[in-house]
Amino acid sequence: MTKLWSGRFTKTAEEWVDAFGASISFDKELVEEDIEGSLAHVEMLNKTSILTDEETGKIKKGLQKVREKARAGELEYSVQNEDIHLNIEKFLTDEIGPLGGKLHTGRSRNDQVATDMHLYLNKQTKEIIKSLKNMQTALVTQAEAHVETIIPGYTHLQRAQPISFAHHLMAYFWMLQRDVDRFEDSLKRVNLSPLGAGALAGTTFPIDRHYSAELLGFDGIYENSLDAVSDRDFIIEFMSASAMSIMHLSRLAEEMILWSSQEFRFVELDDAFATGSSIMPQKKNPDMAELIRGKTGRVYGNLFSMLTLLKGLPLAYNKDMQEDKEGMFDTVRTIKGSLNIFTGMIESMTVNTEVMNKETHSDFSNATELADYLATKGMPFREAHEVVGKLVLTCIQQNIFLLDLSLEEYKAASSLFEDDIYEVLKPSTVVSRRNSAGGTGFDQVRHAIGLAKGKLAE
Ligand code: ARG
Repeated sequence: MTKLWSGRFTKTAEEWVDAFGASISFDKELVEEDIEGSLAHVEMLNKTSILTDEETGKIKKGLQKVREKARAGELEYSVQNEDIHLNIEKFLTDEIGPLGGKLHTGRSRNDQVATDMHLYLNKQTKEIIKSLKNMQTALVTQAEAHVETIIPGYTHLQRAQPISFAHHLMAYFWMLQRDVDRFEDSLKRVNLSPLGAGALAGTTFPIDRHYSAELLGFDGIYENSLDAVSDRDFIIEFMSASAMSIMHLSRLAEEMILWSSQEFRFVELDDAFATGSSIMPQKKNPDMAELIRGKTGRVYGNLFSMLTLLKGLPLAYNKDMQEDKEGMFDTVRTIKGSLNIFTGMIESMTVNTEVMNKETHSDFSNATELADYLATKGMPFREAHEVVGKLVLTCIQQNIFLLDLSLEEYKAASSLFEDDIYEVLKPSTVVSRRNSAGGTGFDQVRHAIGLAKGKLAE
């Protein structure tokens, strides 16, 4: 088969060499974007009178025909035609004859591939933002139902202070909100058109880059043709936002795994998001959460490959850059899949409020409250800390908790104690009183949920 660029060659490459250099096996994923870019390019060539109306009409019809075949799964891509761009051009000439060769006027595969990827990431980033918002909605919905459900809050994975379960879930809402902001901000850089930069230097044809950019929905154009075809920072930025986001997901995944364990039993995952064991009949494994935690590795890996790929690469296009695609596709698939699974997992989980309630009554996470109580009555906090520490020790020795000590025992430790301590020590009191801005107090949590809903409605 003759190559589309075979003019200066006297020998053809062997098949296995072609196969090594080809990207069609993966860049066929860009077929829609490639045709969309070509249609805009032809339209622009017509507007600038580089192509006649008749030529333009025929090429557009041909491209549309190729697109129909692509959608119907009727295209037979070939490795000889290397990549999606040359494959499409070949299909076009098969469709309309040598006129198809005019499509590439004033353009290079270098600006073409960059254009395809900008279009692709623009679309995918918007879908990811939607998926993030769906997961945020699931978090808010569960949070609303559990404002007054109290769980132990941890530091060092040791019981610290009781908190509202809604408050814990909402922490993730805000992390995901920053992810949304990051993805949204990255769109400013994705929405620039490289089309018309040519191979690296622009072109002698009187093209109108602004016009093709506008047709494709870009907000503007790359101002420098070398920059337009050489950089992939928009992909790195996308991958970095993705890495951050899946890092957040992996933390919640880890908590879901802990919470659904026999040791915690705070939540039960829906059967639809868990799996059994082939040998141990009693098992219900949080596979989906584990898998998301595991997939974090590949998203980080893709980011790092991309940074490494571009490091020290001289301007302008180098074939190395063909390696920019698989990681990008993989990151897109991984993030979308993880977000969608997570949303379902959160929506369908059962929250074991009884277990949570029992647990918050069997620990010392109300100890800070007791120290604050004494401090409020004038005892220096250090001294109060010491008094309460001794009371905790007494309890540990007797295998009881602070609420179980008698008023006499309290009075013996400090005359400042009155019988209101029993109310003060209740987990619900402890939580409800933490009403500083952004705290776990019920009023604060309700306020935060209101803010969150406002964000989602924006
Ligand atoms: N398949 C190539 C890539 O993905 C397209 C650009 C090729 N340009 C070139 N001059 N070889 O990077």
